Amino acid sequence: MPELLSLRDVSAAYGRIQALSHVSLSVPEGAIVALLGANGAGKSTTLNVISRLVPQSGGEILFRGASIAARASHEVVRAGIAQVPEGREVFREMSVRENLELGAHLRRDARGVAEDVERAFAYFPVLRERYRQRAGTLSGGEQQMLLIARALMARPALLLLDEPSLGLSPLLVQQIFGIIRRINEDGTTILLVEQNVGVALGCSSYAYILENGEIAHHGPSASLAADGAVQNAYLGGH
Ligand SMILES: Nc1ncnc2c1ncn2[C@@H]1O[C@H](COP(=O)(O)OP(=O)(O)O)[C@@H](O)[C@H]1O
Ligand SMILES: [Mg+2]
Repeated sequence: MPELLSLRDVSAAYGRIQALSHVSLSVPEGAIVALLGANGAGKSTTLNVISRLVPQSGGEILFRGASIAARASHEVVRAGIAQVPEGREVFREMSVRENLELGAHLRRDARGVAEDVERAFAYFPVLRERYRQRAGTLSGGEQQMLLIARALMARPALLLLDEPSLGLSPLLVQQIFGIIRRINEDGTTILLVEQNVGVALGCSSYAYILENGEIAHHGPSASLAADGAVQNAYLGGH
């Protein structure tokens, strides 16, 4: 499969704090790739550098073979990369529908946008039931669904998900990951950041493990899941 996204030797710092050092990874078109690691390892920073929300201090990021180093974050969205940031940040005072339409604010094709609202409702039927409601009244799981649905409104080729399971019950995690798989099967490539290692290795084909801003391990998800040493050292053991 051709590479959709690749990072080569990417570094990033917040002032004197070196958050990423020479991170290289690649995301093949059509895949779900997982990015794992402890709290503070640099997972969110990696996604934020790809989205151009945090500047890189070295290295190269290629999307569809072309460097995105000089692009602004809205240009990256337009090029086909959408991020669901860590934590829940729906626009609480706006309705569910308005939140979805905001995800399409860079688009001018009203009919396509309406179709995509329908598509979002097909993935997340509960959002259809609540589309007039203020987003702030949704449960935590429903807000996470709305955030994913909103990101899809940009029709991304690549979806960056930052800890979609955070704070959700096991049942909701299962439900959301079932939908994430369907979104992938329907043609969206996914780079998935997770602390829930079992779930992430179960739904990805390849995984990278970050430790202190460096890639400490990488390999097919099934091999990492079966590797006792990796499990013990990085993934909390079992
Ligand atoms: N806005 C920021 N300002 C300063 N330091 C930050 C900021 N965001 C993250 N960091 C630091 O960068 C490192 C990586 O953080 P982060 O990418 O958020 O890790 P993760 O998502 O894996 O938990 C941590 O040491 C964290 O404290
Ligand atoms: Mg994070």
